[in-house]
Amino acid sequence: MREGYTVAVVGAGLVGERLVAELRRREFPLKELRVLARSARRAVLAGETFEVGVAEPDAFEGVDFAFFAGTEGEKGAAVQLAREAIDRGAIVIDNGSDFRLDPQVPLVVPEVNSEALNDHRGLIANANCSTIQMVVTLAPLIREFGVRKVVVSTYQAVSGSGRSGVEALEDGRADVYPKTIAGNAIPLIGGVGEDGYTTEETKMREESRKILSLPELEVHATAVRIPVHTGHSESVYAETEERVSLSEVVEALQDAPGVVFCGNAGDFPTPLEVAGEPGTYVGRIRVEGNSITYWCVADNLLKGAATNAVQIAEALVGARV
Ligand SMILES: NC(=O)c1ccc[n+]([C@@H]2O[C@H](COP(=O)([O-])OP(=O)(O)OC[C@H]3O[C@@H](n4cnc5c(N)ncnc54)[C@H](OP(=O)(O)O)[C@@H]3O)[C@@H](O)[C@H]2O)c1
Repeated sequence: MREGYTVAVVGAGLVGERLVAELRRREFPLKELRVLARSARRAVLAGETFEVGVAEPDAFEGVDFAFFAGTEGEKGAAVQLAREAIDRGAIVIDNGSDFRLDPQVPLVVPEVNSEALNDHRGLIANANCSTIQMVVTLAPLIREFGVRKVVVSTYQAVSGSGRSGVEALEDGRADVYPKTIAGNAIPLIGGVGEDGYTTEETKMREESRKILSLPELEVHATAVRIPVHTGHSESVYAETEERVSLSEVVEALQDAPGVVFCGNAGDFPTPLEVAGEPGTYVGRIRVEGNSITYWCVADNLLKGAATNAVQIAEALVGARV
């Protein structure tokens, strides 16, 4: 591990700000921290004032790690600039979905598959927020009991859509969701594919299969946006290979890295309590025969994005995860 690394954060939105906060809170060894966005300006992120630079190829000169948290797609920051950053010597950790399913790009949740980092070629993808908290809780169950089928319903916060999602809830901005979000629940996140699943639901299936190295795993997701500011919740049903007991499941989850066990009877985490915390919280565990059902909550901007991304960089430099 070197004494300090030059780090660029691309994007000064909700995830960009949490990246700055997590790099500082986790004491990532920094020599220099740059923030880049579409336009140059002075901005305060996580209580720190930055001269935000324009995200353009030369802005990556001398950068060791570039965390991308701009928008996705052809005109997005990662598609436009990740290769430029890599060519200048940076390791790119991308929060968007553009490269997650590329077979040459490791998709990493450090508690689950940090070994995938061994094969990286300069670009590493951070998984979808709903997927991360689900695989953190599924991995110990898969290791202990084998899991053949997962049914999950999500209750996703508006900050998962970035600043515009928060504006839709707080200011009634009308162009973000297909229906009013305040006082509502919208079971449609992303576009609908030919099979009827939305892009968010398909991400949960395909990304989980890749991270868990289980290409045949059945994952049936229903992704729902609810009027919560921050913190995604999930009701997860996992069907195991073997019959299991409640005490075995509790033990597996209690010992699992990244999982905060909240109890198994009437004990449960909520997004309001978990927002601002880096872990994945589990409660309301029920077990019957081959069936495990539980409730899990994580901060979508932290474990669902910034914390996971910084953990990836920590694993690469040999610091803590
Ligand atoms: N929110 C979540 O829970 C979450 C979780 C996991 C992953 N992600 C992913 O993380 C990324 C950022 O999400 P967010 O919630 O932070 O969004 P956001 O609040 O809308 O912020 C987006 C930021 O990206 C910048 N940006 C957009 N296009 C850019 C470009 N071409 N070059 C440089 N910067 C660009 C914007 O710059 P300006 O300020 O200059 O306009 C803005 O600062 C997205 O890909 C999202 O899918 C989000």
